[in-house]
Amino acid sequence: MTLRYETDVLVIGSGAAGLASAINLPPHVNVLVISKEDMTAGSTNRAQGGIAAVTDEDDSTDSHYTDTLMAGAGLCDPNAVRFVVQNGASAVNDLIEMGLQFDRQKSELHRTNEGGHSHRRVLHVADATGRAIASTLIEEARNRSSIEFMNDRIAVELITHQADEKAKRVVGAYVYDPNTDRVECIRARSVVLATGGASKVYLYTSNPDTCTGDGIAMAWRAGCRLSNMEFNQFHPTCLYHPEARSFLISEAVRGEGGKLRLPDGSTFMHRFDKRQELASRDIVARAIDYEIKRLGIECVYLDLTDLSTSSIETHFPTILQRLLDIGVDIRKEPIPVVPAAHYTCGGVLVDRHGRTDVDALYAVGEVACTGVHGANRLASNSLLECLVYAKSVAHHIAESLANTLPLESDIKEWDESRVTNSDENVVLTHNWMELRRFMWDYVGIVRTDNRLERAANRINLLKREVHEFYSHYRINSDLIELRNLINVAEAIVRGAQWRKESRGLHYTLDYPEQLRDAQPSIQYPPEDPLDVLQPAVAIVQGT
Ligand code: FAD
Ligand code: SIN
Repeated sequence: MTLRYETDVLVIGSGAAGLASAINLPPHVNVLVISKEDMTAGSTNRAQGGIAAVTDEDDSTDSHYTDTLMAGAGLCDPNAVRFVVQNGASAVNDLIEMGLQFDRQKSELHRTNEGGHSHRRVLHVADATGRAIASTLIEEARNRSSIEFMNDRIAVELITHQADEKAKRVVGAYVYDPNTDRVECIRARSVVLATGGASKVYLYTSNPDTCTGDGIAMAWRAGCRLSNMEFNQFHPTCLYHPEARSFLISEAVRGEGGKLRLPDGSTFMHRFDKRQELASRDIVARAIDYEIKRLGIECVYLDLTDLSTSSIETHFPTILQRLLDIGVDIRKEPIPVVPAAHYTCGGVLVDRHGRTDVDALYAVGEVACTGVHGANRLASNSLLECLVYAKSVAHHIAESLANTLPLESDIKEWDESRVTNSDENVVLTHNWMELRRFMWDYVGIVRTDNRLERAANRINLLKREVHEFYSHYRINSDLIELRNLINVAEAIVRGAQWRKESRGLHYTLDYPEQLRDAQPSIQYPPEDPLDVLQPAVAIVQGT
C-alpha cells in the first residue's frame, strides 16, 4: 500500500526558489517542502558571486534592464526583465529583513562587478553568497509552523487529473524515498516545481548532483511546453584539477581584476571582446574553448596575483581555502580553469505568476523559463529571478486556492505489480556516463549539424533502453534521474537542431550568423509523452 500525505501546497525543491515560494505563502496555507538529500543540496547553497540588484543611486533599473537584454541576445522577454529588475531592491530588502548580512564597506553595501554588468551592482557575502541566502531562508521557513519539510525524497512523476478535454490539473506527485525504497503519494491542491537546473546532463559541470532536470522532465511528461532548451550556459572558469572537478571560480574574481592567461603567461581576451575579462559569459567561455582547442592545451589560467593579498582574503576566502586544500596558493600562483556547464536558461514555459500549462502546477527558479534570461543569462540574475518570481507564484497560489476544489480522492496507487528488482544496474551507470560524455562532446559550447545528429541518434537508443528498464524493474534514484536527463538531453538537442543560427549560448559552425528576427523555441509535448516510441514533436516558433 502506497503511503499517502496531504497538503495544500507541495513545493518540490528547497533552494532559493522553493523556500522563497513557501515563505511567501500565507500562514493558513499548509505547505510541504520536499528535497533530494538535505535542504542545502541544490545549487543555491553553492552560489558564489552574489545577487544582482539596483541599490545604488548612481545605478538604475534601466541600466540593469539594458544589460540583461544585451546578454540575452535578443531573446529576453522585455516585460519579464522589467518585472525582475524593478523588484530587485525589494527582494534584497526581504533578505536583509530576514537577517541576511551582505558585505558592507563602512555602512554602505559592497557591490562587486561581473561580466556584462555596466555598474557594480552585485551584492554578496564574500564568495559564499548562496550559503548565506540558503541558511537565511531555511531559518525563516523553519520558524513558520505552516511549513513542513521532508528530506531524502525524489519526486518521480506528477499526478494529474483530466477534468475535461481541455483542462488538466495537477493533484499531487509520486515521491521515492531512497531510505525505504518505497514510492509515496503526496496529494496537493497546488504543486510548485522548484527543482533547479539540468546541467548534470553534461560531463563537466559546476552543478551539484541534484541538478538532473527532474522538474523539466516531469512537467514535460505531464503535458507542459518547454522553451529555449538549447541555451545551456557554460561558466568560463571552473577549477581544472583532478581532486576538485566541479568547483567554480566566481566571475567576481574577474570583476575584481583577475586576468585570464595562456600557459605562456600571455593574456588573450582582448582578441575576442573589448570588454576583455568582463565580456558576457558566452563570449568568455567560447574564447577559452577556442584557445584550448587551438593550442591543444588542457586549461587556461586565472591570475589574481595582481590583487592585494588582503583583497583576496576578504573577498574570496572560500576559493582561497579550497585551493589551498589542494596545494595552490592563489595569492602567488594562477588557477587552472576550464569552462563547465553551469546554468539551464530554458525550462518549463511559465507566465508572470509561474503558471505552467497544467492547472495548479507552477514552476519557479532554474527549472522555469520566464523569458528573463533569453539566449544567455546575465551573471547573478538567477538568484534574483528565483526570489522575485517566488513571491509572484506564492501570491497567485494564495489567491487561487480559495477557488480550488477539495483534494482529489481517487488518486491511483503507485503500481509495482509488474516490476522486479534489477540485477543489471550497470546499464544505468553505463548510460549515465555515455549520455553526459556525448552531450559534452557533441552538444557543448560549439555545435554542428553532424554533432547534433550523432547525439540525437544516441539519445533515441538510450531512450528505448531506459524505457525498457523502467517498465521492468523497480525504480531507484539513478534510474529516476537518468530517465529525466534523457528527456532533457532530447529537448536540448531538438531545440539546437531547430535553431538555424548562432545566438547567445547556442553557437553552431554551420550557421555562424545571427538571424535578424529573434524567436524563442517552444516545444510542445506529444499526445502521450510517456510513449517513447512516438516521433519527435514539432517545435513551433514564436510566443
Ligand atoms: P536549486 O537551488 O538547485 O534547488 C533545487 C532543489 O530541488 C534542491 O533542493 C533539490 O534537492 C531539489 N530537487 C531537485 N529534483 C528533485 C526531485 N526530483 N525531488 C525532490 N527534490 C528535488 N546565481 C546567481 O544569481 N548568483 C551566483 O553567484 C551564482 N553562483 C552559482 C555558483 C554555482 C557553483 C552554481 C552551481 C550556480 C550558481 N548560480 C548563481 C546559479 C544559481 O545558484 C541557481 O540558478 C539557483 O540557486 C537555482 O535555485 P533553485 O531554487 O531554482 O534550484
Ligand atoms: C559566479 O560567481 O561566477 C556565478 C555567478 C552566476 O552564476 O550568476
